[in-house]
Amino acid sequence: MSDIRKLLKEATMGSHEEAEKSSFMIDMLKGRLTKKQYVLFLVQLRYIYKALEEESEKLRDYELHASVYFPSELYRFQNISADLNYLDPKWSSYEILKSTKKYAERIHEVGIRKSARFLSHTYVRYMGDVSGGQMIRYKLRKAYQLPENGDGLKFYDFENINNIKNFKSLYFSRLNEVVQNEEAIKEILDEARLAFKMNINLFNELSKVVC
Ligand code: HEM
Repeated sequence: MSDIRKLLKEATMGSHEEAEKSSFMIDMLKGRLTKKQYVLFLVQLRYIYKALEEESEKLRDYELHASVYFPSELYRFQNISADLNYLDPKWSSYEILKSTKKYAERIHEVGIRKSARFLSHTYVRYMGDVSGGQMIRYKLRKAYQLPENGDGLKFYDFENINNIKNFKSLYFSRLNEVVQNEEAIKEILDEARLAFKMNINLFNELSKVVC
């Protein structure tokens, strides 16, 4: 039986490293982004999660996707919107970047096709957020001197997950149960690399915007 988690990790190891080392991520963790740059980043994420969560709702009754349908545990759209309202009431005037539009278009495209490839997009974003996100949350709070009550950092707050390690095990065991067909595995790995690439493209575009 294939271990999809292991395969995904191996397939995206290089891309994960590239994402971690991108100058935008480094600047963010060091607190070198201006608040406007961070808000611009969140505005892009809001657009991307809107696409993810809209498609996820449409796919909730399809076996392949229903197995990892965890809206109350994972959905981020509401939390990102709350952070934006807290950080900058004028957030809706920020532009949606080209790479963000392309990324969201791809999510819709694979969602509409009900493709196994959609699973790669939920994996790359949500599993990334529940994993590295916790460390990022701590660093951001310090860097931007945000209050301890979590205001401005709800994006990283998975309030409906009690134990992240157990939740991840459940998520990956469900994924493993439904994805055993070789062709589907190939597509998922391929799309996961593309999803990382789209995140890296977004970081690169963001690092060029001065605000
Ligand atoms: C500075 C930025 C980042 C840091 C410090 C970071 C750190 C981490 C850490 C510590 C883990 C847990 C590894 C484990 O449990 O074995 C992880 C997992 C993960 N990260 Fe990142 N990460 C960063 C950026 C990203 C980005 C930008 C993405 C994708 C958009 C991403 C996607 C993932 C995924 C999908 C996993 C889950 C792997 C698994 O548990 O099987 N990460 N990350």
